[in-house]
Amino acid sequence: MTARIIDGTALSRHLRAGVGERAAALRARGVIPGLAVVLVGDDPASAVYVRNKVKACEQHGIRSVLETYPATMTQADLLARVEALNGDPAIHGILVQMPLPRHLDAHAVIEAIAPAKDVDGFSVASAGELMTGLPGLRPATPAGCMKLIESTGTDLRGKHAVVIGRSNTVGKPMALLLLQANATVTVCHSATPDLGTFTRQADVVVAAVGRRGVLRADMVKPGAVVIDVGINRDEGGKLCGDVDFAGVSQVAGYITPVPGGVGPMTITMLLVNTLDAAERAAG
Ligand code: GUN
Repeated sequence: MTARIIDGTALSRHLRAGVGERAAALRARGVIPGLAVVLVGDDPASAVYVRNKVKACEQHGIRSVLETYPATMTQADLLARVEALNGDPAIHGILVQMPLPRHLDAHAVIEAIAPAKDVDGFSVASAGELMTGLPGLRPATPAGCMKLIESTGTDLRGKHAVVIGRSNTVGKPMALLLLQANATVTVCHSATPDLGTFTRQADVVVAAVGRRGVLRADMVKPGAVVIDVGINRDEGGKLCGDVDFAGVSQVAGYITPVPGGVGPMTITMLLVNTLDAAERAAG
């Protein structure tokens, strides 16, 4: 069997067209959706991510404000900036790019963001809303993975989904979103013995570990949906995910590529969250 490729770039294009329409509708009402992106320090990968987020906003009718600060910025100054953005009615979403320089307390910064503007969905309030099934802003990467799974036409009710990874930003919210969609969910992680025992039972596997080669062909049930969140480099320096794509695509029913799978969906869902926040603020 050769898996069908889930094209995250094409799905993103489709969803972003909807974002553009919603942004235009808000603008027609005199509301310009606004996202503030705060970058502290000079991590080169963060600079690329932030640039892509700002560019995507510009292309889809969202005003973005990029604030960049030196790595020496103090916690007090960063919290003061977040407070100012919380009180700025032209800003509907606030994103503080992670990781922050080590002397800064990321948790305290995330908690300082007004829950209504927490478009990353990383705060305790947003996590609690997800946990309890209340409406709210969901973390972009797992929300994007759900859209990718939905696009295959898979009904998750009663299916077994295995999430590999337990981070607060991907693994844990991913498990909760799958649970909310009535899947039976198993969360595997670095202390899980014999990962394949679990993944071979899975109708859906989401790999979010950040290490290549975590999921190989002999660990996958024929026909399964495989979502690869990983962004790694192979020994030749080429971008690759957590999944052995060449092998697993011979067994799976559907698979996301890297690049062109989850990556574009993360930014797309950030745009969707910003629109959700702006629409809620506009009433
Ligand atoms: N760093 C890597 N991914 C993300 C993200 O989705 N949001 C933020 N704020 N920082 C990140």
